[in-house]
Amino acid sequence: MKPFLFLIAGTLVCGAVMQAQSGAPQAQSGAPQAQSGAPQAQTDAPQAQTGAPQAQTGAPQVTKFAPLDYFNDKCAKCHGAYGSFYGKEFATGKSDEELADTVKQMCEGPAQAPLSPHDLNVLVAWHRSLRDGKPFVASVKLEGGVWSGEATPGSTVVMETSTGARTEAPLKEHRWSAGMPEGVRITKVQVKNGEQVVEFDPRLGAYAPK
Ligand code: HEC
Repeated sequence: MKPFLFLIAGTLVCGAVMQAQSGAPQAQSGAPQAQSGAPQAQTDAPQAQTGAPQAQTGAPQVTKFAPLDYFNDKCAKCHGAYGSFYGKEFATGKSDEELADTVKQMCEGPAQAPLSPHDLNVLVAWHRSLRDGKPFVASVKLEGGVWSGEATPGSTVVMETSTGARTEAPLKEHRWSAGMPEGVRITKVQVKNGEQVVEFDPRLGAYAPK
C-alpha cells in the first residue's frame, strides 16, 4: 500500500498546483461547477456565475442535506443500508436523467418523503456514484470551524489545504469531519475506495466526477 500512498501524495501536489492556477479570475468561468452536473450547478449557484467571494476563496459549497442519512432513513428498508440490495449491476446503462426520474418517483411514492429539487439532485448524485462504481463524497456542513460531510463507508477522505498540509478526515460509518479554522482554504479533496479514486472539487456540493 505504501507506494500507492506516495502516488496519491504526488497527485495531490499536482492538483494543488492546478488549483492554485485556477484561482486566476479568467479561470473561474471555466470552473468545474459551471460545466458539471453537480447538484448546485443545476439549481442555485449564484457564486458560480457571479464570481462571488465564495468561489474566489475556494470555500467549500455545502449541501445542507445529508443524502446517506436520508437514504438510510427513508429508503433502506426496501433497498438495504447504503443501497446494498441494489446489486452490482445497479442502473447500468441508465442516463443521469432516467436515474433522477426513478429516484424522484421513489421519494414521492414508496418513501413518502419528497425532496426539494436541490436535495433531490444531491440524492441523485449519490445514486450516480453507485452506478459508476465510484466512491461518493458530499460536503454537507460548515459550522464553528468544522467542515463535515458524507462519503461511501470504508473509503478514505484526504484533504489538502492551500499551505500544502494534508490530512485524512476520519470517517465514522458514512460521516467525516475536519477542522477548518478561519482563513484555511481546502484546495483538494480525494476520496478513495479500493482501486477507485475520485478527485472532489470542494467548491462543488457533492460527487461530480468529470
Ligand atoms: C416500500 C419499498 C420501497 C421503498 C421505501 C423505496 N423503494 Fe425504490 N424500489 C422499490 C421497488 C419494489 C423497486 C423495483 C420496482 C420498480 O422499479 O418500481 C424499486 C426500484 C428503485 C430503483 C431502481 C432500481 C434499479 O435497479 O434500477 C431506485 C433507484 C430506487 N428504487 C430508489 C429508491 C429511493 C432513493 C428510495 C428512497 C427515497 C426508495 N427507492 C424507496 C421499493 C421501494
